[in-house]
Parts: sequence; C-alpha cells; structure tokens
Amino acid sequence: MQLTKTVAITKDATTQNLLRKFSKQLFLADNLSEAIDICKSVTPELVIFDSQFDNSRIEAFFNSSNHESFNAPVAVITKAETQHSQHENFIEMGAIGCIKGPHDYLEMEKITSRLKNNHKKPESETIDFFACEHAAEASMVGKSTSTINALKMIKMVAQSQCNPVLVVGETGTGKEIAAKAIHNIKHPNEKFVAINCAALTANLLESELFGHVKGSFTGADKEKIGLLELAGNGTVFMDEISEMPLELQAKILRVLQEKTFRKVGGITDLKCNATIIASSNRNLYKETKEKRFRSDLYYRLNICPIKLAPLRSLNRNEDIEMLAKYFVQTSTICPDKKGKIKSITKMAIEALSKHHWPGNIRELKNVIDRAILLETTEKIGMSSIIIDSEEMQESNEQIAPNADNVINFSLSKAEKELIAKALRQTSGQKTRAASLLGITRATLYAKLKQYNIEKDSYSNNRSEELCDQPVTV
Ligand SMILES: Nc1ncnc2c1ncn2[C@@H]1O[C@H](COP(=O)(O)OP(=O)(O)OP(=O)(O)O)[C@@H](O)[C@H]1O
Ligand SMILES: [Mg+2]
Repeated sequence: MQLTKTVAITKDATTQNLLRKFSKQLFLADNLSEAIDICKSVTPELVIFDSQFDNSRIEAFFNSSNHESFNAPVAVITKAETQHSQHENFIEMGAIGCIKGPHDYLEMEKITSRLKNNHKKPESETIDFFACEHAAEASMVGKSTSTINALKMIKMVAQSQCNPVLVVGETGTGKEIAAKAIHNIKHPNEKFVAINCAALTANLLESELFGHVKGSFTGADKEKIGLLELAGNGTVFMDEISEMPLELQAKILRVLQEKTFRKVGGITDLKCNATIIASSNRNLYKETKEKRFRSDLYYRLNICPIKLAPLRSLNRNEDIEMLAKYFVQTSTICPDKKGKIKSITKMAIEALSKHHWPGNIRELKNVIDRAILLETTEKIGMSSIIIDSEEMQESNEQIAPNADNVINFSLSKAEKELIAKALRQTSGQKTRAASLLGITRATLYAKLKQYNIEKDSYSNNRSEELCDQPVTV
C-alpha cells in the first residue's frame, strides 16, 4: 500500500529509502519553511519530521501553529533509542504516529493503511449537496435540520392549494430560491414573474402589478398588462412585501380574498389565477405593531410561512461546509480555474464556520468567489479566505434580539472563557490546560492564536474581560 505524495524534512538516506517504499512521490525539504512551501503546492497525504531535529525543536514545532499550515497529518521518525514516553508526548501534541527509526516498517505500514482508509474517494465525487428528491426543482443546498424542514414545507405548500405563500428570512437566506422551488414543483411550465416592492413608487408598483388602461393617467398612452395577468396560472413573486405602501396593501388583500383585480383606471374585474408568493426580510408581525404593515394582510399571508433560518443559527450552521464546497465546485468567477480548484481545507472550513454571516448565503458565496480568485493551489486554504473586515466587525458586534445570534455568540464566548479558565487553573501550563479541555496542545495553541489570547489575559489576576475580544477568523 502506498501514499500518493509525502513531504519529508530529512537528509537521511536510509529514512528516504523507507519513505520511498510507502509513497509514490517523495518531496524532500531541508527545513520547516521549505516544507510549508512544498505543502502549499503539492497537497501531500503525509508530512514526516525526521529526528535530525532534536526533540525540543519538534515540540516547538507542534506547539506553534506551523503544522496546521501543512494541511496534512504529521508523523515523526524518531531515533531508534528514543523513549516511549517521548513518543506519547508527540502523539499528544498532534502527531498521527511515531516511527521508531528508519527501519520501522511496521509502524510506517500502519500509518499508511490508516491514511489510505480515511481517503476513500475524492469528496467532489462522493458529496451529495441536496437533501430532498426535489433537488432538480429546489436547488437548495444543505442538509441541516433547518434546511430539511424548510424543504418539507416547500414541498407541502407546493403540492397543496395554499395561496398566498409567505417566505421569510434575513437577507441572503434564499427566499427567492425558495419561491422558485415552490413554483418549479407546483407548475414548472407556467410563468414566474417577480417584482421588488421596494424598488418602485406606489403608482408604478400598482401599474406594474395590475396593469392600466389607456389614458388612466398622464403618460398612460397605451394599455398595459400587469404582472397578475401576465403570470396566468403561474407565480407572482412579490419580493420585500413589507415595503409596499399601505394603500396598495389594501388592494393586494382584495386580490387575495376575491381572486379578482382591476387594472388602474379599469372597470372590469379580471380573474387572478396566479399563485402569489410574498417575501420579507423584516419581521412582519412587528411591522403590524408599528402600523407599517396591515395586520389583515399579514394574517392572510401567514397561513403556512416558510421560514429560512440565518446561516449562523445552530440548526443551520452545519450547512456552511456543504455550501462552501458546493460554491467551490460551481463558481463561474474564474473560468480558467474551473475544475482545477477541487476542495477547501479543513482549517478554512473551520474559519468559515466561525463567522456570523450577516449577509448569509450570498455573503458566503462571495467569500468563496473571492477565495477562488486568490487561490493559487488546487485547494482553497486559509490565506485565500478573506472576510470583509467591516462585515466581521458588524457580525461580531451583532447581538441582535434574535435567539439564534445570542446562542451562537455565546458559544465562541464560552470557548474563550473556558480556555482562559483552564489556563488560569493550571497557572498557564498549556499541556495540563489542553488535557483539562480535552484537546491537544497544538489545538490549544491554534485557539490561543485565533482568539488573540495573550499571556497576561489568563494570569490569575486578570478578570473575564478577555471574553469580549473580537473573534477573528
Ligand atoms: N440553499 C442554497 N443553496 C445554494 N445557493 C443558495 C441557497 N440559498 C441561497 N443561495 C444563493 O444565495 C444567494 C442569495 O439567495 P436569494 O437571492 O434567494 O436570497 P434572499 O433571501 O432572496 O436575499 P434578499 O433578502 O437579499 O433578497 C443567491 O445567489 C442564491 O443562489
Ligand atoms: Mg431576494
């Protein structure tokens, strides 16, 4: 059994011979920074550290976050006489195995087969982004509970006579995609027409929706067919319905109740057969309390609302990884790189999972597009993930009244707090703190770096204020 690519930091010929037996391609580096450079371009399955380094240098390496830049598991080849306790120490620090000298074929065999078994097929071939049998109609990526529930509702609503349908969710959560999914399941061969209620003045909006008769107002020099008529038996998508002027809301209510409407300036009632799907990123109930939205229209719309959760919420954030991988595969931002960038590193995914995504899926899509533009290897790594600092600041400051935010914010806060507590309890001893936390020392170092936790912040006379430091990704 052989690995495809191994990077080794070694000058020892016997060690090199051993490694060549277990790897089709062996890339040799003289030192750490050379190894990091090689790893960036070849994406190895294994990195090997030779005992030419003394133990303290290997420890220092694991205790820094350097080995995470490899994006590959690291094993150590020690000198044959190295103590067993030292091997255990390396494993505890994050090594996946310790090969006892350049003749330890047995251990090398074990590591190779373990890695091979973990690498069944490239993810791009096995991954299935869609949760339901309606993947063709509802191109909604994700398998979180929240997405599955939304898809179930979409399917139920589309297969019923429910009309109107309300779709709610923060900006970028996929309201338009959900509306199109309902349309595609319900009547794919009919027309889907959309109108943004925030983009037009009251008069124009009315004329767009209902149409007008010739001469009904200055400039109405010919008759116009409105969207309600144009849609026929299809769908009219009224985006951002909360922005619709109150007088027009009353007219829409009439359409929903009577299923008829009149053109502006017209006298005949026309039948409305279309399914009306309205969307809002505002809380419509609150809008009714503020008298900006008619409560009778709200109750008429709110029969079977489809709620799309924000990406940061606990029951949707597991979609981040799948969405990121989906966008990596489907992005059209760089036609030259199409098919060349195949995946995204674990660390990059972790970083994405920590962001609060105020712009939700749209923002994630943009971040991946940007990463594809910047990436020079075949795997998107941390250095290409750039989240707009203003968005980050905003998301970190965000403690909106909605429970999802509070819970999520508390998670990172709790993690920082816990790390600081463990360090205080162990008087700053990282090995003990890491074992208290149930993580490796390397992970602890990475987290200290990630949360900017400075030494003085966990010395015993420091208070809890550290938890308020911004989270960076
Ligand atoms: N589940 C999903 N799977 C794949 N792509 C998605 C998904 N949800 C949203 N998107 C993509 O994210 C972007 C924003 O989606 P969409 O326009 O439907 O959001 P929205 O809720 O209508 O946003 P806004 O309130 O700002 O209008 C689009 O590019 C869409 O294709
Ligand atoms: Mg929209």
